Amino acid sequence: TILVLDFGSQYSHLITRRLRELNVYSEMLPCTQKLSELGWTPKGVILSGGPYSVYWPDAPHVDPEVFKLDIPILGICYGLQEIAWNHDNTNVLAGEKREYGHAYLKVERHGDASTGGHVNALFKDLEDDMEVWMSHGDKLSHIPEGFVTVATTDNAPFAGIAHREKKLYGIQFHPEVTHTPKGKLLLKNFAVDICQAKTNWTMSKFVDQEIARIRALVGEKGQVIGAVSGGVDSTVAAKLMQEAIGDRFHAVLVDNGVLRLNEAQIVKETLTKGLGINLTVVDASERFLGRLKGITDDPEKKRKVIGNTFIEVFQEEAKKIAAAAHNSEHAGEIEWLLQGTLYPDVIESISFKGPSATIKTHHNVGGLPATMSLKLIEPLRELFKDEVRELGTNLGIPEDLVWRHPFPGPGIAIRILGEVTPEQVRIAREADHIFIEEIKAAGLYRKISQAFAALLPVKAVGVMGDKRVHDQVIALRAVETTDFMTADWYPFDGEFLKKVSRRIVNEVNGVCRVVYDVTSKPPGTIEME
Ligand code: XMP
Repeated sequence: TILVLDFGSQYSHLITRRLRELNVYSEMLPCTQKLSELGWTPKGVILSGGPYSVYWPDAPHVDPEVFKLDIPILGICYGLQEIAWNHDNTNVLAGEKREYGHAYLKVERHGDASTGGHVNALFKDLEDDMEVWMSHGDKLSHIPEGFVTVATTDNAPFAGIAHREKKLYGIQFHPEVTHTPKGKLLLKNFAVDICQAKTNWTMSKFVDQEIARIRALVGEKGQVIGAVSGGVDSTVAAKLMQEAIGDRFHAVLVDNGVLRLNEAQIVKETLTKGLGINLTVVDASERFLGRLKGITDDPEKKRKVIGNTFIEVFQEEAKKIAAAAHNSEHAGEIEWLLQGTLYPDVIESISFKGPSATIKTHHNVGGLPATMSLKLIEPLRELFKDEVRELGTNLGIPEDLVWRHPFPGPGIAIRILGEVTPEQVRIAREADHIFIEEIKAAGLYRKISQAFAALLPVKAVGVMGDKRVHDQVIALRAVETTDFMTADWYPFDGEFLKKVSRRIVNEVNGVCRVVYDVTSKPPGTIEME
């Protein structure tokens, strides 16, 4: 395992990501991590970039024990400065010129015996000139004692340094971003050659390990409860639990009345018949719709009402399941709650986000109250989204579920602008169903990151047959994005939109117009509320 210590750079998680792509297992922890509390010994350590200057009085620093371990260390950007500062704290100067963007790196090789072969090891198999991505203000003013320069740029005379004797390396640029095209090879040189980390991290190995871990954690009799939504994360987590402990895992789907068309039914079929998961579907749609009544122009209130009602319904169901489980042959208590937390959520909650190392507690969607006093089990907490998809495929989950678009917890309630009534739900659902069906038929579903139909709370005039009608307006939204933080609307061709619009107006009672939302994020958000 390679330990990545995070100083808060926006790229830190990409380091872990790249290492896993190389089949090297890696874990990221805050830079303040005490080695004595780690419980395992890393094969190597990478110090990430960060937004601070090492000479600031309140700048974060690694546990000095890191430098006493006899293992290779690679410092990236702030990490480089941290290594230099640790060896000689007069080394870092604020750069007169900040440097952001592309730069050309010249690699310097050291062939003579006095420096030893390992100083060249980071740039093994790389060209002497390489394109790199820079993002820094500080740079080294001189090289610390014991180090040699292994790379330079026009603006940074010490863009890469290596220790003459120890396996200590520092680079000013970011190898983890795709703008450094050969960066992954550099990380491979570090992790595989220099640290000798094993390259045996694969998904099927992960499945075996995780199943064994879950069994050991839960024990012979322990039982686990967890909510499923029909989305990929909760389904994959549920399937993994089912593989590990069978029917001692209890999945609950709460039908909140604002799911997609026929969703509860479809999820039930897929999870129970298809995947053998022990699932209870609770139809609470009336309770939810009752509480949503009269909320006309406050999207946050919709979210709160749905969130709170969800917790209430889930808790009631958990009590019932616990009572039944207690009397069953397993006779164990339900002690565990499954959550489909992913690695990006974990990173966000442990990330080092300020000189005082604030650690946010993570609250997953539909986070359940402490009063349930269940212990959390989070089998996906080491995985990125695409790894979850790979895992899902590995576990035999159908392709169309594995590649499903995300769907918000508050469901189509936040896609019905204005009051949520059963009639509005019907219209929004039917229109959405047609839109998604056509996107799939056109082979665009995977290309688009998220798509849906929203219902606007206004009426427009139209003619249908010979009659003048005064009906509602559907707004279609489809976006492409990689991180859901920024997004662009999808450029459908006119024929496609024509077809969808014709079908919606013809097939969905109560709609006489269809419009397409051409707002990117920002300034828009993906959802309309
Ligand atoms: P926005 O609208 O913020 O959406 O651009 C970004 C992503 O988050 C989803 N989203 C939600 N998911 N509960 C959820 O579980 C919510 O309240 C919620 N609001 C937005 C949205 O669907 C998109 O994928």
